[in-house]
Amino acid sequence: MEAKTVKNSQTTITELMIPSYANFGGKIHGGILLSIMDKTAYACASKHAGNYCVTVSIENVEFLQPVEVGDLLSFYASVNYVGKSSLVVGIKVIAENVKLGTARHTNSSYFTMVAKGDDNKVTLVPELILENDTEVRRFLEALKRKELSTVFRNRMQDVKSAFSRASMTQLKQERCIVGFQ
Ligand SMILES: CC(C)(COP(=O)(O)OP(=O)(O)OC[C@H]1O[C@@H](n2cnc3c(N)ncnc32)[C@H](O)[C@@H]1OP(=O)(O)O)[C@@H](O)C(=O)NCCC(=O)NCCS
Repeated sequence: MEAKTVKNSQTTITELMIPSYANFGGKIHGGILLSIMDKTAYACASKHAGNYCVTVSIENVEFLQPVEVGDLLSFYASVNYVGKSSLVVGIKVIAENVKLGTARHTNSSYFTMVAKGDDNKVTLVPELILENDTEVRRFLEALKRKELSTVFRNRMQDVKSAFSRASMTQLKQERCIVGFQ
């Protein structure tokens, strides 16, 4: 299986934010943005893998600035990391106000995708050829994110296992009321 460059599968989807994408407050639904991000990640990952891919997890989803009706959104996707059957696709979202001619970076998120063969079993993906410092940095960051998410998952499992009625004392400073005995 031949290794592929990052450039080979880089994908951009540009879409105008139309009124039917908006919530009652007139801003674009986060779910609409996630759906387009997922589609972009899928296209990018499948192109690198040469196979269809499924979404396993999404990291760093933060919508810190609202997206307005009329904004022109571009979703830039690159393969940041490959494992055996998994790939991490980074998606950068840029919103342009076409009237003002301004652009802002609304968020960057990381989609872990897994390649599947025609038998629906996970399948090997090509190695990734890194051609510049940015691509090396993104690969290293993805490795670190993978390591940290394993630590996080294990810690949360410990929290789950350690739960008992005595844990409720930790709620004293919180804005909740335990409404049962
Ligand atoms: C993704 C899926 C194939 C993994 O199945 P699995 O039995 O855990 O397979 P494996 O243990 O062989 O893992 C396959 C790869 O997924 C990665 N993986 C599994 N769970 C993961 C998780 N929670 N987060 C990140 N990567 C994960 C593994 O690290 C492995 O990567 P590698 O091959 O590069 O080393 C399976 O969970 C699946 O089909 N899920 C449904 C996906 C889907 O339908 N998504 C659409 C959203 S509804």
